[in-house]
Amino acid sequence: MISVAIDGPAGAGKSTLARKAAAQLGFIYVDTGALYRTVGLKFSKMGADTKLDCDISSVLADTTVDIRFVNGEQRVFLDGEDVSEEIRTPVASMMASAVSAKGEVRAFLLEMQRKLARENDVLMDGRDIGTVVLPNATVKIFLTASAEERARRRYDELISKGMTVTFKEVYDDMVQRDYNDSHREIAPLKQADDAVLADTTGLSPEESLQLILNIVKERI
Ligand code: DC
Repeated sequence: MISVAIDGPAGAGKSTLARKAAAQLGFIYVDTGALYRTVGLKFSKMGADTKLDCDISSVLADTTVDIRFVNGEQRVFLDGEDVSEEIRTPVASMMASAVSAKGEVRAFLLEMQRKLARENDVLMDGRDIGTVVLPNATVKIFLTASAEERARRRYDELISKGMTVTFKEVYDDMVQRDYNDSHREIAPLKQADDAVLADTTGLSPEESLQLILNIVKERI
């Protein structure tokens, strides 16, 4: 099986690019951030905030997260319910970042991710795919862009979905999440030693996609 690991900070365009690259390569695309968002949503539905003052293990023992592919598109299910849209709000983003710092949560989601890569040719994106989840991935890419540009892209995306946010809110959230994700003790966001750096600042979506495809094709 072939596995392509794409890691990088929030808003680097990972999911859009990874989805398109996977379609061109004929691989399944696994968005692992959606799994952390799903767990975050569970805690949020239970009334927890980002401090997570609760017994994490017992909540997880009572939680089912499933990933299914419908017409090649990933859908995520929380306790049997499709939450693929609900996990995209700014609150869900902050909750995802909070739960993702917890070792119990990371352990809870680890085997599901590895199993997908054992059974399929995958292009998997996240923060720790090349470093922790798939240390033997066929190709590892660290995808990034400047914080300003990443915030601008995320802002445009939220506005086009009809959400009411300001650029400053999105930018501040982005910087806060970058900090949280790269300073946590467990599986922090960092470039794997053997990952190829792809910086898309100033590149169009099409140019960024070509960059990714070229990196992959050179190595498989
Ligand atoms: O990629 P995203 O914005 O949907 O990810 C949501 C959160 O989950 C983000 O704050 C970092 C975390 N995450 C993680 O810790 N490890 C992953 N493999 C994927 C996401």
